[in-house]
Amino acid sequence: MKVSICFIIFIISVSLAACDDSTLESFLQCLPTHVNSSNPIAKAIHKPSDPSFQSTLEAYVKNLRFLTPTTPKPLAIIAATHESHVQATVICAKSHGLQIRIRSGGHDFEGLSYTSKVPFIILDMFNFRKIVVQPYQEAAWVEAGATLGELYYQIANQSSIHAFPAGICPTVGTGGHFSGGGYGNLMRKFGLSVDNIDDARIVDANGRILDRRTMGEDLFWALRGGGGASFGVILSWRIKLVRIPEKVTVFRVGRTLEQGATDIVYRWQEVAPELDNDLFIRVMPTIANGTRKGEKTIQVLFIGMFLGKTDRLLPLINKSFPELGLQRKDCEEVSWIESTLFWAEFPKGTPIDVLLQRPNTTLFFSKGKSDYVKDVIPKSGLEAIWKSMLKVGRMFMQFNPYGGRMSELAETSSPFPHRAGYRFLILYSTDWEEKDGIDTEKQVNLLREMYDATAPYMTKEPREAFLNYRDLDIGSNPSNHTDFKTSKVYGLKYFKKNFFRLTEVKARVDPDNFFNHEQSIPPRYANHN
Ligand SMILES: Cc1cc2nc3c(=O)[nH]c(=O)nc-3n(C[C@H](O)[C@H](O)[C@H](O)COP(=O)(O)OP(=O)(O)OC[C@H]3O[C@@H](n4cnc5c(N)ncnc54)[C@H](O)[C@@H]3O)c2cc1C
Ligand SMILES: *[C@@H]1O[C@H](CO)[C@@H](O)[C@H](O)[C@H]1NC(C)=O
Ligand SMILES: *[C@@H]1O[C@H](CO)[C@@H](O)[C@H](O)[C@H]1NC(C)=O
Ligand SMILES: *[C@@H]1O[C@H](CO)[C@@H](O)[C@H](O)[C@H]1NC(C)=O
Ligand SMILES: *[C@@H]1O[C@H](CO)[C@@H](O)[C@H](O)[C@H]1NC(C)=O
Ligand SMILES: *[C@@H]1O[C@H](CO)[C@@H](O)[C@H](O)[C@H]1NC(C)=O
Ligand SMILES: *[C@@H]1O[C@H](CO)[C@@H](O)[C@H](O)[C@H]1NC(C)=O
Repeated sequence: MKVSICFIIFIISVSLAACDDSTLESFLQCLPTHVNSSNPIAKAIHKPSDPSFQSTLEAYVKNLRFLTPTTPKPLAIIAATHESHVQATVICAKSHGLQIRIRSGGHDFEGLSYTSKVPFIILDMFNFRKIVVQPYQEAAWVEAGATLGELYYQIANQSSIHAFPAGICPTVGTGGHFSGGGYGNLMRKFGLSVDNIDDARIVDANGRILDRRTMGEDLFWALRGGGGASFGVILSWRIKLVRIPEKVTVFRVGRTLEQGATDIVYRWQEVAPELDNDLFIRVMPTIANGTRKGEKTIQVLFIGMFLGKTDRLLPLINKSFPELGLQRKDCEEVSWIESTLFWAEFPKGTPIDVLLQRPNTTLFFSKGKSDYVKDVIPKSGLEAIWKSMLKVGRMFMQFNPYGGRMSELAETSSPFPHRAGYRFLILYSTDWEEKDGIDTEKQVNLLREMYDATAPYMTKEPREAFLNYRDLDIGSNPSNHTDFKTSKVYGLKYFKKNFFRLTEVKARVDPDNFFNHEQSIPPRYANHN
């Protein structure tokens, strides 16, 4: 009813705002009728006229590219504090034809959790941050708005021999991170986050709360890597903890081009995916000052995580990767929780409470892209990549080695399809601050040009991409319409053939495509060829 009134007003071209106002009022009045009265929703609602609106919006905007005067703002933010608030938001938004954007940690590379080109509501999950660690069951329940830092802290608080394989940035939210795969420095030993999740609670498109048993294996499969925002609202995950030694070894060594970085990276490509599963060595090419004033060069950082002590690590490196020239003095033995601070680049000695901090502002503009590499890139290719980096200017890359546990799991075990046969995942990232006075469009285009130039070395047909490094350049829909042909383009890059199974699950659980965004899964792709 409301939808059609809205549409007529739109057609006779009265302002869109007028249409929104009445729809919004009616939506807001709908909410309390679906909420248990002992958990009132009034305080969870932030309207643009409320003083709390702007700070609530900004608190989880993690990329300044999506906090400009022209960035579309939500009609309202529902910062749910109770499960019934989530249910009410879904039910009322659906019945009013309003789009929702679900936000947990707000780290989406393209801001899809808090912007849209059509009128929308943010369903904000940051209050859902409970973590219950069950050390004797070697498991935990984690709510979707909890951050990785909070999860790591709580695991370490209960056990010194358990961990969870997930990402490196402590402020990333588990709602988006796990549903997009979730990888980190434990990947070669234990796989992705989604390979270690055994239950989830969600609110589906009908506003029902489901768990693994009641949602069925198909939907549970889809949530583990297919992106939550196409299927429902994740309330919480049940994760299986993994066992790690009380001490692990970390290192970070830098080699510039002048110090032979190209040869070492070349060799790294051959050995890194074949190394002992206890060893993960990330390569991070960065831009550094050259020897002559004003000159730039590339410095490649080799950042290591070893699930054991230095005495076992050194002979291993000496045997398989002596080119790195790793010395005992480069290595540090720490607890796993301390290693999470090392990887997040906190200064040595920072208390672990820092993992609980939630900075409510961000300083950075950024654009990221991803690639997968199956064949060793020749030295001439690496040299071309370094040149491209210098052209982009402010940027860094990360090469994350696969192999180990990643190669043991079938491509269809979860929607995440990049398993055996992949050498490494590449992240391209350009980041800058306001004071750098950089033109956003120009800078983003430089990264796009670099991506075009590196194509010969990457996976082809399709050129694959990692969902958690969301990139609208690889194909995207307008935000109010999922086009099948377009969705197949990005769908095959992110999911390969798993895309088709995702569309079937979607058709069963959300045939009306209520949960949709620029890169969501459409309800069944008609032509499976
Ligand atoms: C600095 C930085 C470091 C990163 N490091 C890593 C890394 O090491 N490993 C890795 O795998 N990834 C990494 N990422 C990518 C990160 O995992 C993804 O951006 C992830 O989607 C972020 O989750 P979020 O909850 O913080 O983001 P959000 O922006 O809140 O959400 C991301 C997507 O998930 C959806 N979503 C969020 N919450 C829910 C929910 N409760 N139910 C359903 N859908 C939901 C959103 O609608 C959106 O589509 C990094 C990103 C950044 C910015
Ligand atoms: C409302 O919530 C209270 C307390 O959380 C609970 O005891 C009660 O059963 C709920 N009522 C309904 C109808 O869900
Ligand atoms: C962030 O938090 C600080 C104090 O915790 C507060 O003073 C500031 O206004 C907040 N900023 C935003 C954008 O919410
Ligand atoms: C666990 O957390 C509690 C409360 O924050 C703290 O008092 C205690 O010292 C922590 N224990 C460990 C082993 O970290
Ligand atoms: C690089 O050089 C510039 C000046 O040319 C200087 O401001 C900057 O601090 C240097 N950076 C590093 C990491 O040394
Ligand atoms: C590395 O191995 C060689 C022989 O294979 C040995 O001579 C050398 O001492 C070893 N270096 C270290 C640091 O273990
Ligand atoms: C999507 O929104 C645009 C502008 O808001 C509108 O012109 C278009 O008709 C809409 N498309 C659909 C399929 O609703």
